[in-house]
Amino acid sequence: MSKPLHQLRAGVIGTGFIGPVHIEALKRLGVQVTAVCGSTNNAKATANQWGIPEVYGDYDYQAMVRSPHVDVVHITSPNKAHVEQSLAALAAGKHVVCEKPLGMTSEETEKVVVAVKKGGRRGPVFAVNYMCRFFPAVLQMRAMVERGDLGRIIHVQGHFFQDWLLQETDYNWRILASEGGKLRAVGDIGTHWIDAVSFILGAKATAVFAHLETFHKKRLRPRDEVQTFAKVDPDEMDSYKVDTEDFASVLLKFGKSKHDFASGVHASASISQVAAGWKCSLSVGIYGTEGSVRWDLQQPNEIIVGRRDEPNQILQRGTAGFMEDVANFTDYPGGHPEGFPDSHKMHYRAVYEHILTNKKAPALFATAADGHYEVRLCEAVLKSSRAKGWVRV
Ligand SMILES: NC(=O)c1ccc[n+]([C@@H]2O[C@H](COP(=O)([O-])OP(=O)(O)OC[C@H]3O[C@@H](n4cnc5c(N)ncnc54)[C@H](O)[C@@H]3O)[C@@H](O)[C@H]2O)c1
Repeated sequence: MSKPLHQLRAGVIGTGFIGPVHIEALKRLGVQVTAVCGSTNNAKATANQWGIPEVYGDYDYQAMVRSPHVDVVHITSPNKAHVEQSLAALAAGKHVVCEKPLGMTSEETEKVVVAVKKGGRRGPVFAVNYMCRFFPAVLQMRAMVERGDLGRIIHVQGHFFQDWLLQETDYNWRILASEGGKLRAVGDIGTHWIDAVSFILGAKATAVFAHLETFHKKRLRPRDEVQTFAKVDPDEMDSYKVDTEDFASVLLKFGKSKHDFASGVHASASISQVAAGWKCSLSVGIYGTEGSVRWDLQQPNEIIVGRRDEPNQILQRGTAGFMEDVANFTDYPGGHPEGFPDSHKMHYRAVYEHILTNKKAPALFATAADGHYEVRLCEAVLKSSRAKGWVRV
């Protein structure tokens, strides 16, 4: 590690489900969390809980990004606030870690790409929180593809399944296109899958064929706004028409990879937020001419390597064969599980090291351009579902 990370000071916008995940990961890294912004009551309560000195209530992110005690702004507000808050932070010369998706439309996310480019070589660093890249398993699969361990990659298959929106009484702002964007399951979790697969293959999808379905055409919502995963009494709810998808089937054609043997790969993914029993299962299988590798986020510490003519192997993080390539991205020995909070920690470590080394440390994280690409991909998915055919991204 170059310089200690406590030289940098973070300000976090948003105090719901994921805001405190950022705060906890930053504190575990030794980064100073100096400011928090949200609704007046929540920002005060979060600051009190975590010992954060500067509090910006009434969603006053403009004041927070101008604070001389903040170097890096973490944006964990709902999707529709991401672009305006990113642009304000960049204009104030601050580095940014923005939650996914980068924005609601590619028209607005392009503005972030332009603003980051304008900053140039010495300008602020911008990362989008596709932190699944930083699970050691994902980095290990990427190294195996890169080295050619699996031979020529033939196809990729997987899913991202959750069940927290299974019932018609399950409510969150993400269900409303006006709040979360026109795509919900694909935009919210499908883009994690696509970003992780793009990262592993070293290639972007160039065409998609998608089918979207809304199982609950109508749902019930609470009269007041609630935090993600909160449960509400149905007597205190009103009916509304749903305008986003509950699940999707997506075919993807990946383009040219940095590695010849991973170009032109075909992939298929099922995405669902109404899949009973699955809490947060991002599952991916990479199938090549010499072997395959499979992983599921719900068992984050192991990968299954498959061979046609040899026994299959289960490799465990922190042990031989699943250690050497990912040593910088894991802190605990084998048998001491690491998971979701650690992937955030490893992501922020990579971003903060990139900042502290004047961008010399590798930028393995998703950039503004990657975030913009995911939003364009979502637009292609929607177009394909309506046209019932392949659409180029
Ligand atoms: N990377 C991941 O794995 C991951 C996981 C969950 C959520 N997310 C993303 O994080 C974001 C927040 O999701 P969440 O689940 O924490 O939602 P949430 O509803 O639980 O929390 C959102 C918070 O933002 C606050 N807020 C609302 N408008 C705001 C504004 N204009 N400025 C500042 N704060 C505002 C709300 O009061 C609330 O505290 C979303 O973009 C979501 O896609 C990412």
